[in-house]
Amino acid sequence: MSESKGRTFDAKENAREYYGKELTATSDLRTTACCTTESIPAYVKEVLVEIHAEVLTKYYGCGTAFPPDLHGLRVLDLGCGTGRDSYVMSKLVGPEGFVFGLDMTTEQIDVARRHQQHMAEKFGYDRSNVKFVQDVIENMDQHFEADSLDMVTSNCVINLLEDKEPVLAKVHRLLRQGGEFYFSDVYVDRRLPDDVKIHPMLHGECLGGALYDGDFERMARNVGFPDPRLVSSRVIDLEPEVEALVNNAVFTSRTYRLWKIEGMEETCEDFGQVAIYNGGHPEGKDRYTLDKEHVFDRGRPERVCGNTVKVLTESRLAPFFTVHGDFSTHYGLFTGCGTEAFNRLGSNDDDAGCGC
Ligand SMILES: C[S@@+](CC[C@H](N)C(=O)[O-])C[C@H]1O[C@@H](n2cnc3c(N)ncnc32)[C@H](O)[C@@H]1O
Repeated sequence: MSESKGRTFDAKENAREYYGKELTATSDLRTTACCTTESIPAYVKEVLVEIHAEVLTKYYGCGTAFPPDLHGLRVLDLGCGTGRDSYVMSKLVGPEGFVFGLDMTTEQIDVARRHQQHMAEKFGYDRSNVKFVQDVIENMDQHFEADSLDMVTSNCVINLLEDKEPVLAKVHRLLRQGGEFYFSDVYVDRRLPDDVKIHPMLHGECLGGALYDGDFERMARNVGFPDPRLVSSRVIDLEPEVEALVNNAVFTSRTYRLWKIEGMEETCEDFGQVAIYNGGHPEGKDRYTLDKEHVFDRGRPERVCGNTVKVLTESRLAPFFTVHGDFSTHYGLFTGCGTEAFNRLGSNDDDAGCGC
């Protein structure tokens, strides 16, 4: 519960009301903030054709909040809504994997649950590999054990939470070593004034609660994700009447990946290491994009910082990469990366993030 000029605002109540009563379909949204306007990758498109229409018509996500290589993983989808992403991931994890969808809003989760049997049959599974849990995200640790999940995802939800840092800390706790938090959300280039934060429509549309990107990266570092990696970023075009309410603030829809890997540093450091993509990853036989700054062509050696080496050797990506060099000799800061890139945040540079 927050307060401004004598007015109280309950973020959970507002989100519950907005997604339970105010909106009945994607077409009811007043802005494009909770819309996926970027092109949808083939690995998602291929599955979307199999998803029940009722699930799709109530989709309020803002990006592609999960990668293609999910086979066999145990995944948690925070704020799953009617389950569009949970069901796409149900197909991608396959019968050996499992997807949990967590959402507090009855009208949303009822739709998700209604189609569980239908979706399992559609995918040819003997039994559903999805479970929908109705609760607030803040309680996630009451449903899952520490170090028990391979991946946590979330699509346009974190902005709606009142207190974000404790939630990020819980995500970190529930992930296993080598696991990742891969998620899409709305960010803003400055700290918003209180009257914008508690405006019911702006909050419901995923704008009022958007984090200043610099604060987000600091929070991530505080809870144990030292090197947040930006995957994509697009500026959200606002309608003139909405723009007038937010005083020149620039909002972006971004996808980040945060790795839980021991020993990662807050700065990208140079140990003279080189990584080679061996090919064969589901994302691309000949090219693999780790994040906005790292694209690997098969067989081509790339200089990488120590954090990238850790990601490529201590996560599920390990079978796809060969790394040369170790951590025995340090050559200083990895140029254009880490602290240097962190300090550029807030300059409204779409490319902010790890630059190695
Ligand atoms: C913008 S919608 C996105 C839904 C879904 N991820 C999608 O892509 O369609 C936000 C969702 O977050 C849920 N939500 C918001 N705050 C929550 C909280 N504190 N605990 C649980 N769910 C929450 C809402 O019920 C709503 O379904």
